[in-house]
Amino acid sequence: MLSLSSHIALVTGSSRGIGRAIALALGRAGAKILFHGATDSAALRDALAAAQSEGIEAEAHVADLGDATSCDRLAAECAAADILVLNASVQSYGHVADFGNEEFDRMVNTNLRSSFRLVRAFGPSMAAKGWGRIISVGSVNAGHPAPRLAIYAAMKAAQKNMMLTAAKEWAANGVTANTISPGVIATDRNSKVLADASFADPLRETIPAKRFGTAEDCAGIVLALCSDACSYITGADIPVDGGMGL
Ligand SMILES: NC(=O)c1ccc[n+]([C@@H]2O[C@H](COP(=O)([O-])OP(=O)(O)OC[C@H]3O[C@@H](n4cnc5c(N)ncnc54)[C@H](OP(=O)(O)O)[C@@H]3O)[C@@H](O)[C@H]2O)c1
Repeated sequence: MLSLSSHIALVTGSSRGIGRAIALALGRAGAKILFHGATDSAALRDALAAAQSEGIEAEAHVADLGDATSCDRLAAECAAADILVLNASVQSYGHVADFGNEEFDRMVNTNLRSSFRLVRAFGPSMAAKGWGRIISVGSVNAGHPAPRLAIYAAMKAAQKNMMLTAAKEWAANGVTANTISPGVIATDRNSKVLADASFADPLRETIPAKRFGTAEDCAGIVLALCSDACSYITGADIPVDGGMGL
């Protein structure tokens, strides 16, 4: 039931972190993987090589999702994908009153507009095929914004809401759209702050599981949601947070 053979997955932001772990999990289940990164980085090439060394059919694509033309080009290059994992995002901190227009626009373009453009590009072809999976990697911040993450949190909430409409629009066509909401996951993004024990130790104490998550902790649920085992689950938001939201 967890086999994804004959499927093709575009996982945005899969050069590193959560996206890479998701891509490898889907690849191990038989999907062809379209890796993606903002730049043609060593990390992206390493992720591709790691997949290919396991016998996973894979390609790498580069696109700055903050740029509409690049985003549309990525969609065209990856048009055959029937699994879309919206994982890439940018995250910047600031009090609402201090957020400049340029940074606000960068966050909206990269985190939300690109997701809309990709869902608009892939949803109809998935529906025409009669099978598709759209997964948004959200955040616990969508419901409970952390201090100084207002814009990031708002984009996550908007993206989650977009999944609800996508879920309803294409449910009858075999396409599901779901969100996973990670808590604190140890990746490059937060390696600096989590290396500071005075910040990390009290934060860890607030998590019932008493540990930070790993990128791999996020991959299993995405694999399940992409598989036929979860074909009747759509519009869900599944926390991957060690109980942090309880
Ligand atoms: N880590 C956490 O604690 C946590 C918690 C909740 C939710 N999340 C969400 O989970 C997702 C993955 O997080 P992560 O921690 O694995 O992130 P990460 O390690 O910072 O990796 C970010 C990925 O996004 C790509 N990316 C960044 N800017 C981009 C742009 N402008 N255009 C296209 N791609 C871009 C990066 O590509 P390059 O390698 O080319 O830069 C990289 O592949 C994000 O949506 C994040 O919001 C993370």
